[in-house]
Amino acid sequence: MVFRMYSNESEIHAAAALIRAGRVVVFPTETVYGVGANALDPEAVARIFLIKGRPTDNPLIVHLSGAAEIGLVASEVSPIAHRLLEVFAPGPLTIVLPARADLPRVVTAGLDTVAVRVPSHPVAHALLAASAVPVAAPSANRSGEPSPTRVEMARRSLRDGPDAYLDGGPCEVGLESTVLAVFHDEIRILRPGAVTEADILSVLPDAAVRSGPVSEFAHPDRPAPSPGMRHRHYQPNAGVRLWETPQELREEILRCCEGGVRAGIIIPAAAVLPSSLDETPAGHRARGEDGSGPVVRTYRDVREYARQLYAWFWEFDEAGVAMILAHVPGGEGLGAAIRDRLWRASG
Ligand code: TXA
Ligand code: MG
Repeated sequence: MVFRMYSNESEIHAAAALIRAGRVVVFPTETVYGVGANALDPEAVARIFLIKGRPTDNPLIVHLSGAAEIGLVASEVSPIAHRLLEVFAPGPLTIVLPARADLPRVVTAGLDTVAVRVPSHPVAHALLAASAVPVAAPSANRSGEPSPTRVEMARRSLRDGPDAYLDGGPCEVGLESTVLAVFHDEIRILRPGAVTEADILSVLPDAAVRSGPVSEFAHPDRPAPSPGMRHRHYQPNAGVRLWETPQELREEILRCCEGGVRAGIIIPAAAVLPSSLDETPAGHRARGEDGSGPVVRTYRDVREYARQLYAWFWEFDEAGVAMILAHVPGGEGLGAAIRDRLWRASG
């Protein structure tokens, strides 16, 4: 069943009843769509792993209707975590906290920490408030695929696995939440997202914030703090190649044309497809003059790039594109989050 959204509050209540009954529901958040179940019901949570084909050593984020609910799953909130939640919850931030002893360990993949998040999307909020239980929810895609940012992407990926889908339209942010952990006085960004290092420093100017590959954070006495980052992630069916300069784009396009490979191109709106291609036969193909031209998507700024990235991956796959030529945006903040996803997609 696919629910229509915004119009009908009773549909959210029906979905909340399913959650309370131990069923699995796909729902929108401001970042990406999630596939959720009652975090306190180990069998319901185990079904999420089955539906996604997710390795059981990759823990789930627990979603709450408000920061006041954190005590349901976490045993302790440090002053730094408390301050970050005050400012960034609800919103696209996930914080790793010590888990309550009675939280089912299927949620945390056996870790003694739990990742919590308070989504700001009105449908997610209404669902969480109505279900009145913490909801464990990874992104609503088969493991390894890009996260869905529209309900039809989730549906195409998970098919009849979940018991219901809530449609909240396209996601506003488009990239998964920032995941961070607080170790002593240090804030570690385990996954970059829309809440940026600069945002964190604007709230806690004296904090030591670190980010980078998870391996740098490995403790000798515990598993990698964000085990999920080890796994294959965010990859469309098409290959992904990255480009920074017009020259690199030109070379990639020619390579695709000469190999008879249909390309999907992501390019800044201010840039132009290399004009020198016009002189070559491959260039005619690159311009679509023989009907096999590339599928081109342009972005005006990094917010638009982040919002559309996974939807474009999906559209390229739907169009039968074999190679995606994605522009690498500059800048910190969202630019860095996009680069992180592009590197994973191309890896
Ligand atoms: O925006 C989002 O975060 C979306 C929406 C649905 O909320 N959810 C999402 O979940 O992206 P998922 O499962 O695709 O990614 C969760 C990430 C994984 O990299 C996982 O390893 C990490 O969070 N994580 C979960 N629990 C953790 C924990 N206790 N310690 C460290 N990392 C954890
Ligand atoms: Mg995911």
